[in-house]
Amino acid sequence: MDSPTNTVAEQITIDVHLPPGGPLSGMAADVRAGLTKPFKELSPRYFYDRRGSALFEEITDLPEYYPTRAERAILEHRSSGICAAAGDPTTLIELGSGSAVKTRVLLDALEKAGCLEAYAPVDISEQITRDTAEAIASEYGILVHGLVCDFERDLERMPLSGPRVIALLGGTIGNFEPAQRASFLARVANLLGPDDHFLLGTDLVKDRQPLEAAYNDAAGVTAAFNKNVLSVLNRELDADFDLDAFEHVAFWDAENLWVDIRLRSLARQVIEISSLGMSVAFGRGEEMRTEISTKFAREGLAGIYAEAGLEMVEWWTDAEDLFALSLARRAA
Ligand code: TRP
Repeated sequence: MDSPTNTVAEQITIDVHLPPGGPLSGMAADVRAGLTKPFKELSPRYFYDRRGSALFEEITDLPEYYPTRAERAILEHRSSGICAAAGDPTTLIELGSGSAVKTRVLLDALEKAGCLEAYAPVDISEQITRDTAEAIASEYGILVHGLVCDFERDLERMPLSGPRVIALLGGTIGNFEPAQRASFLARVANLLGPDDHFLLGTDLVKDRQPLEAAYNDAAGVTAAFNKNVLSVLNRELDADFDLDAFEHVAFWDAENLWVDIRLRSLARQVIEISSLGMSVAFGRGEEMRTEISTKFAREGLAGIYAEAGLEMVEWWTDAEDLFALSLARRAA
């Protein structure tokens, strides 16, 4: 007989596919490209250092930030329906799993349905993926196959045995630009076998006021989170951004259907980024984009799925119609 500790270890496989320079290896080239554009931008992938992750956790508890609570409510109330609609999958693959807080609701339902055999967390952080794998393996007694990678780059490495459900929760798809979103979804479509499904979390289009409040909270946590990306650049690229010389900006763009999140330079200033050997000039009032957060409506999302070779099979919202989970399969 195996001892219990052995049993948990034997349930776990972790594959690491990080680029040789680690998770931040593309950062220098990325930042250089973004800051030399006429309309400057930074990639949202650098928000989440230790402090950024802690600030984001705080955002999810803010009264104004409804998406996390609304998605959790859908998962809690609809999980058995989701399992049934997905054909009682044996494997749950979660893209950007983090600490898998939301996932447990879904895992509970899959466990109750008696179909669950394996969980595959996919995340860029090796430590979080290892911790999550341990916790889920011991709590649920299932196989856990963790993948440490950039899921956009390494999507095709997902484990193949099914029927599977591939989940992307939290509204993360909203942070993709339209072209990037289209190619990502087309790749997901390609991965899906006839019994597989894709489960997607999307924030919904609504009035300007609650949307803008969600990204401009009264306590200023979102502003601190947004500015923290400048601290990441200071530390990782030896830059000299003064966080007090920028202010947080977030507004609803009703034409593009996204919340546009930016940092505005409060003065004319020149930033030195030593490890890139580059100076970056900002005009007074100049804005730099740090993220877009696209919001969706059912019809629009159905069209986006269709263009990617996917077909929406189910749609669930919370009681207040704030957020949606949808289930798709490969189009016939
Ligand atoms: N991706 C999340 C979202 O779109 C994260 C987020 C919340 C965020 N508030 C932010 C990203 C402010 C940048 C700035 O909701």
